[in-house]
Amino acid sequence: MFVRETEWWKYSIIYQIYPLTFADGNGDGIGDLQGIIQRLDYLNDGKDNSDSSLGIDAIWLSPINQSPMLDNGYDVSDYYDICNTFGTLDDFQRLLEQAHRRNIKVILDLVINHTSSEHPWFLESRSSRYNPKSDWYLWHDPAPDGGVPNNWLSYFGGTGWTYDDKRQQYYYHAFNSHQPDLNWHNPEVRAAIYDVIRYWLDLGVDGFRLDASSVYSQDKYFRNNPVKFEGREDKYKDQYHIYDQNLPENHEIIREIRSIIDEYDNRVLSGETFIDNRLYDSLIFYGVNNDELHLPFTFEFPLSPWYPGYLQREIEKKELLTPEGSWQVYFLNNHDLPRHLSRWSECSICFDTFAIAKASATILLTVRGTPILYYGEELGMVNHENIPLEQLRDQVAMSCLDEECLPSRDGTRTPMQWDDSPQAGFSFGKDVTPWLPVHDNYQYVNVETELSEQDSILNFYRELIQLRKNSKALQKGTWKPLIYYPYEHLAYLRETEQETVLVAINFSYEKNFDLDRAIPKQYWQVLLSTNLSVGDIIPLPQLLQPFEISILQFTPDHAVP
Ligand code: GLC
Ligand code: CA
Repeated sequence: MFVRETEWWKYSIIYQIYPLTFADGNGDGIGDLQGIIQRLDYLNDGKDNSDSSLGIDAIWLSPINQSPMLDNGYDVSDYYDICNTFGTLDDFQRLLEQAHRRNIKVILDLVINHTSSEHPWFLESRSSRYNPKSDWYLWHDPAPDGGVPNNWLSYFGGTGWTYDDKRQQYYYHAFNSHQPDLNWHNPEVRAAIYDVIRYWLDLGVDGFRLDASSVYSQDKYFRNNPVKFEGREDKYKDQYHIYDQNLPENHEIIREIRSIIDEYDNRVLSGETFIDNRLYDSLIFYGVNNDELHLPFTFEFPLSPWYPGYLQREIEKKELLTPEGSWQVYFLNNHDLPRHLSRWSECSICFDTFAIAKASATILLTVRGTPILYYGEELGMVNHENIPLEQLRDQVAMSCLDEECLPSRDGTRTPMQWDDSPQAGFSFGKDVTPWLPVHDNYQYVNVETELSEQDSILNFYRELIQLRKNSKALQKGTWKPLIYYPYEHLAYLRETEQETVLVAINFSYEKNFDLDRAIPKQYWQVLLSTNLSVGDIIPLPQLLQPFEISILQFTPDHAVP
């Protein structure tokens, strides 16, 4: 591996774990830290050429802090402790140590835009208008008619304001009413959160994913957001969020957090930068002087249709817009989005799920930038669309069933599928009901079965990951498309001075392989392919077979037999 320790996050593959449904170690039906520890070898057993592990380099854990779990941990009630459901601080320290032993870095989700309404800070703040923490949240008197102070909305639906009887004031929440926003104008709040950050860094975590990092700060004067032409004021997407999102102060806060990160060696700062879906706006989260996020998560693949021209355009845009000295990051899925195979199978008439799984994995793992995998994606897990109403767990979604509110995210969060035993091996306890129902395809979509099938999706991911690890071109080389307006196939080069790798993916039932740019015709070595024999040295193929994926390395000096 060529990882320079200080920039490990550039050349690493990150794997997102949703702790509630990854692995249940104590057998109560809910995922926990013990379960994750027991499954670490699957993620990376620390051995080169392992025959059973995935080979990822870092895990990002969705929140594990103490929480009443109204938003499954994205509502923290104690930043210094681990939620009892998941285990103890000792368990966490063991996880850190066991992960590090296997060369797996550990990234925590830091939910600091808001706390839980049960956090002691909020309890104190709401207890009266005159207490030391009265100004730790965004309180405001009612409008003269007694209504909400302004038109700010909750991202989850409805108004962003909730009235509190005791203070006879409203408090603001960018998300659910149980998630009151902290008042980041207040230096005491900043100091308290920065202490939290230092605490976990001191403990040895390798970095953070900043949750909701574009909405930390709101306008001091509480001005109304303007409404788009012919838009509806009560619709989140119809407002221009100039007073509740992405304010200059928001960036000041991230720079302060980054400067703390920089006091420590080799830590990474990533964050969710979702703003009106616009890549351009998200890229400013690198910071004018590359002094904000190392890895701002932008949503180009999750928001793309399954169409080569569109996907290529997104990559091209990102290549053009990523500032000098910054580094790209890509993902297909996360815990808030329907799984990509469900999204993309739906809108593609001529591509089966299996082929989409391999083609999308190829793109994710061969573009320039850090790839993030979401647990189970490597198996081809799809969304669970038929969870019975009484088993749904996404309470913030259920609290607002309006069409414009957030749809339930449970379908993307079902238990990891480990084997074909009951509960898919998710729980180490027998006869328990898992926290969310297991998808019924678990008998063939699971780790154990797929490890034993040579051409499974899992083995394809494992090969791609190995390939990426062994290729400087795939890790850090330039990215250059070979077709201007791809319609049926994608082809691009990844290049360093010493190495040229060609990635070609056929999206169609037809054979085709037209390239607009000239590249050498001879000789290429097959590194990975769904059709060609790996290791063979061949002239540049004339045609790609239907749905073929091939990754070839240019071998100029090769003496051809
Ligand atoms: C982020 C999280 C999401 C959560 C929300 C509120 O968008 O990804 O799961 O509900 O923030 O914390
Ligand atoms: Ca458990």
